[in-house]
Amino acid sequence: ANNRITRISVERLRPFLALETLDLSNNNIVDIKADSFPALPLKNFLNNNRISSLETGCELSRNRVRRVEGLTFHGLHALRSLKMQRNGLSRLMDGAFWGLSNMEVQLDYNNLTEVSKGWLYGLLTLQQLHLSHNSISRIRPEAWEFCQKLSESNLSSNHLSRLEESSFVGLSLLDELHIGNNRISFIADGAFRGLSNLQMDLQKNEISWTIEDMNGPFSALDKLKRFLQGNQIRSVTKKSFSGLDALDLSNNAIMSVQANAFSQMKNLQERLNTSSLLCDCQLKWLPVWVAEQAFQPCVNASCAHPQMLKGRSMFTVSQEEFVCDFPKPQITVQPETQSALKGTNVTFICSAASSSDSPMTFAWKKDNEVLNDAEIHNQAHLRVQAGAGGDTEVTEYTTTLQLRNVEFSSEGKYQCVISNHFGSSYSNKARLTVNVLPSFTKMPMDLSIRAGATARLECAAVGHPSPQIAWQKDGGTDFPAARERRMHVMPEDDVFFIVDLKMEDIGVYSCAAQNTAGTISANATLTVLDSPLVVTERHFFAAANQLLIIVDTAEADAGKYTCEMSNALGTERGNVRLSVIPNPNCDSGVQGGVGVGMVGGAGSDDDGWTTVGIVIIAVVCCVVGTSLVWVVIIYHTRRRNEDCSVTNT
Ligand SMILES: *[C@@H]1O[C@H](CO)[C@@H](O)[C@H](O)[C@H]1NC(C)=O
Ligand SMILES: *[C@@H]1O[C@H](CO)[C@@H](O)[C@H](O)[C@H]1NC(C)=O
Ligand SMILES: *[C@@H]1O[C@H](CO)[C@@H](O)[C@H](O)[C@H]1NC(C)=O
Ligand SMILES: *[C@@H]1O[C@H](CO)[C@@H](O)[C@H](O)[C@H]1NC(C)=O
Repeated sequence: ANNRITRISVERLRPFLALETLDLSNNNIVDIKADSFPALPLKNFLNNNRISSLETGCELSRNRVRRVEGLTFHGLHALRSLKMQRNGLSRLMDGAFWGLSNMEVQLDYNNLTEVSKGWLYGLLTLQQLHLSHNSISRIRPEAWEFCQKLSESNLSSNHLSRLEESSFVGLSLLDELHIGNNRISFIADGAFRGLSNLQMDLQKNEISWTIEDMNGPFSALDKLKRFLQGNQIRSVTKKSFSGLDALDLSNNAIMSVQANAFSQMKNLQERLNTSSLLCDCQLKWLPVWVAEQAFQPCVNASCAHPQMLKGRSMFTVSQEEFVCDFPKPQITVQPETQSALKGTNVTFICSAASSSDSPMTFAWKKDNEVLNDAEIHNQAHLRVQAGAGGDTEVTEYTTTLQLRNVEFSSEGKYQCVISNHFGSSYSNKARLTVNVLPSFTKMPMDLSIRAGATARLECAAVGHPSPQIAWQKDGGTDFPAARERRMHVMPEDDVFFIVDLKMEDIGVYSCAAQNTAGTISANATLTVLDSPLVVTERHFFAAANQLLIIVDTAEADAGKYTCEMSNALGTERGNVRLSVIPNPNCDSGVQGGVGVGMVGGAGSDDDGWTTVGIVIIAVVCCVVGTSLVWVVIIYHTRRRNEDCSVTNT
C-alpha cells in the first residue's frame, strides 16, 4: 500500500502461496487484466487506485476473493462487464460495486447468501445480474431499489424457499428471471405484481400448495410457458393457471385435475406426464377434452388408482370405468369467519371425509402460511353416507384450531388443509377480526353557560376498529343550533362548538362511540343561563352584588337563578330555583329562595310604604348577617394561614 506500483505482476505474486490479504491501496495501478492474479487464497482484496480502465471485461473469476470492500471499483466508469465467478465470495460490503454502471455483473458460483440493496448500491443502469449457484436464501425488501433497469437476472441453483410480495418490487423492466433449482415452496400473493413482461422458470422447486390453492398467481404473466416442470404439484384446480395460455407440467406427480382447469389454454399445448392419476369420476372429463383439443401427443398420463385401473393410460379407460370414489379428502365442514374480543379464546373447526382409509394429515394456514406451532386437536368419527350402492360408512375427520388470548396480530385468514395419499383439500379462508370495545378518552361534561356565549362539547374514544362518534340531543338528532348554523364541528376533531347559545340549546347531549364490538355512550347536560340580570325597579343588588332582591314578584320571575363568583383562579357557580306560587287571595305570591336573600312584597298590600319598610329591614338584616359570615370566614382564613405559615392575605 501507498507505493507507486503501476502494474500487478503475476510472477511477483506467485510465490506468496499463503497470502490472504492483498492491500494495493493508494498505488498507481491503472489496469487489471484478466490474468493479473495467480491463484492465491486471498481473503481481502483492497484497492483504491487510479484504475481507469479494466479491459472491457474485468475477469476476476477463479480467484479466491472472499470479500469485496465498498468502493473497490470506484472510478471504473468504462467497465462493461465484471466477472467474479468461482471465487468463494461470501461477503459484499455496502457499495461494493459503486461506480460501475451500464454493465453486466457475473457472480455465479460463489457463496453469497443474500441479495440486498447495500451491495447493489450505485448500479443504477445494471441490466444483467448473474447469481446462480450461490447460497442465497433471501432477497431483502427493497433490494432492487438502486437497479431498476435490470432486465435479466439469474438466481437459479440457490437456496431460496420463499418469494415474498416484496421480492421483485421495482423491477418493471425485468423480462427474464431464472429461479429454477431452488427450494421455493411459498409464493406470496402479488409476488409477480407489475412484472408483466416476465419470462420465468420455476422448474425444480418445491411448489405444491401455493399453486394448488392460489387464485391465479400467474395471471398477470402472459408470457410464461415451460416454467413449472419438476415441482410437487399434485392437484390442479380451475384457478391454478387462470390467465396462462401455455404450460409445462411434466415431472409433477399430478393426481387430480379439476374440470376445465385448462380451458383457457386453447391455442397452445400443455405438457403433462404423470403416472399418479386418480382415475375416478371427477377425472372423466380430461381424456375427452384432451382428445377434442388434439393434445394427446403432449399428454402421457396413466392411472395409479383405483387398483383396478392401475398402470393403464387414461385414454384406454372407458367412461363407465371412471366411478365415483372420492378417496381424496372432501371438506364437509368449513371454518367460519368470526370476530372476537381481544384477549378471548377462538376456535376454528374444519371437517373432511374420505372413502379411503389412507391416513389423513391436518394443517392450518394463516394468510397462506402454515402454522407450525399452533394448538390443534384432531378427531376421527364414522359417518353414514347415502350412496348409489346403499349407505356406506365413511370416516370423517375434524380438526380444531385453538387460538388463545387473541391479539391484533392474530387477525387474518385461516384455512385448513387436509391431505392423504390421494391429495389435499383446502377449506375456505375464514377471516378472524379482533376487536376491542370502545372506551372514552374524553367524555363530555355538564356545562352551564351564559346565553350568547360559546359551548364546547368534547368526546373521544378508542377501540378496535376505531369507533365512530355520534351525537344526539335529548335522544334525537334535532339540533336547533345546527339548523341555525350555530354549530361547528371540526372535521377529524373530537370537539364541537355551539356559538351564540340560545335557550333552545338546553338539553342532554349524548355522545355514542360505536364499533363492531359494541357501543358506549355518555351524557352531558347543557344549561344555558338567560341574560345577566340588570337592575330594574323590581330587581336590586345589595351587599356588593351578593344579594339579589326581587320585589313585586311576578310569575315571569320563576326560574333558575345562578350566581357566579370569579377570580383569576377560576369561576364558581351556585344555583337556586325560584318558584312563584299564585296566591289564591291575591294577584301573586312568592316563595323566596335560600342562600341569597330573596324578598318579595306581599301583593295584597296596596300600601307601597309597607313594602319599602320590609325591604329596608330585610336589607339591614342581610347586611348584618353577611358581615357576620365574613367575620367568621376571615377568622378561619387567618387560622389556616398561620397553620400553614403562609403570609397573611
Ligand atoms: C460457503 O459458506 C459455507 C458456510 O459459511 C461453508 O460451509 C462453505 O464451505 C462455503 N463454500 C465455499 C465454496 O466457500
Ligand atoms: C415424464 O417424462 C420424462 C421424460 O420425458 C421422464 O423422465 C419422467 O420420468 C416422466 N415422469 C413421469 C412422472 O412419468
Ligand atoms: C382461554 O384459555 C385459557 C388457557 O387455557 C384459559 O385459562 C381461559 O380461561 C380461557 N378463556 C376463556 C374466556 O374461556
Ligand atoms: C343519556 O340520556 C338519555 C336521554 O336523553 C337516556 O336515555 C340515557 O339512558 C342516558 N344515558 C346515560 C349513560 O346516562
